[in-house]
Amino acid sequence: DAPIAFHGPHQAGIVTPAQDRLHFVALDVVTKDRAELVELLKTWTRAAERMTAGAEAAPGGLVGGGPNRVPEDTGEAYGLPASGLTITIGFGPSLFDERFGLADRRPAALEELPEFAGDQLDPRRSGGDLCIQACANDPQVAVHAVRNLVRLGFGVVSVRWSQLGFGRTSSTSTAQATPRNMFGFKDGTNNLKAEDPAGLTEHVWVAPADETGGGAWMAGGSYLVARRIRMHIEVWDRTNLQEQEDVIGRDKKEGAPLGAAREFDEPDFARKGPDGSPAIPLNAHVRLAHASQLGGIRILRRGYNFTDGTDGVGHLDAGLFFIAFMRNPGTQFVPMQRALAKADGLNEYIEHNGSAVFACPPGTQPGEWWGQALF
Ligand code: HEM
Repeated sequence: DAPIAFHGPHQAGIVTPAQDRLHFVALDVVTKDRAELVELLKTWTRAAERMTAGAEAAPGGLVGGGPNRVPEDTGEAYGLPASGLTITIGFGPSLFDERFGLADRRPAALEELPEFAGDQLDPRRSGGDLCIQACANDPQVAVHAVRNLVRLGFGVVSVRWSQLGFGRTSSTSTAQATPRNMFGFKDGTNNLKAEDPAGLTEHVWVAPADETGGGAWMAGGSYLVARRIRMHIEVWDRTNLQEQEDVIGRDKKEGAPLGAAREFDEPDFARKGPDGSPAIPLNAHVRLAHASQLGGIRILRRGYNFTDGTDGVGHLDAGLFFIAFMRNPGTQFVPMQRALAKADGLNEYIEHNGSAVFACPPGTQPGEWWGQALF
């Protein structure tokens, strides 16, 4: 329940041990006035400082302005603790068009993602000029944070799409137990973790030398890739255990790589099973996504399970809201997802229907505001 520090060299919500709940929102900027956008980023930063500390969004709070004024906080999180709330902001490629004079500040690494084989992307669940990721251990606290930031942005931004996540599918710290995704498998075992600073430096944080031109403001930041992945759980739930384990490449109960005994044993991709074929099949998800098969590429996964009602034809609309952080999407997510789109045994059971990429600027110091070095 304790507050998580808002300020620091990096934004919170990236290597912060993944909280249980998510409210993610993508927004479009509707004003053409750059000064209004800057003013909003300042207001948002102050509100985020307050809410992550467990306070109301603005000093007046839910009744402080008196009976004749609109309350400065919507009130639904009043009396609740900070609940580990983190609020993380990102800037989408479309923010760098002609509207705000930011074209020459666009980082070279911030490009729209290419189309991948099998993509079924819904434009109403993709893209956005800005994103806000709110994570907390209480869903009411996460939703309250997004709602109040959206409210403060009235007339400047409008909501493009939004996603709730009800349970984390990743661990980002060795102190956390590995949770399970909607296929019932442990997810996050071989993830980058907060306790591996060298790995984070190499794979997650943008280094000063990465952007020498107009994108230099991104040093210390990270790129966020979001993919809404529908999981066809009804099909999966009729699939036998052996097939499920072969598709993932790990056993279901312990989460060990096939052919090994314990969750954190290293996968041995050369090992043969009793019938002479590879113990971890050639199209297994963990083989294709493993750094050893991708020239050393890694990413920090921080996704959430969702169920959003039905698909209208008798099934739950359930899946994984995949979120990953990395130093450069073009050299990390793109080749990894290309390899998966081509051969992953999981493809029979999943469908990517939303996609977005955002540049998350570095952290702030007290008095600074989100994206200050960009503007
Ligand atoms: C590992 C499930 C999508 C990248 C895993 C594991 C599971 C899993 C069960 C093994 C445990 C672990 O190490 O975390 C899923 C499901 C997906 C999905 C159900 C879709 C609904 C993706 C996507 C990517 C990805 C889109 C990236 C493009 C990885 C990576 C690993 C992994 C890098 C670690 C592999 C290793 O080094 O052993 N995933 N995943 N996954 N997944 Fe996924």
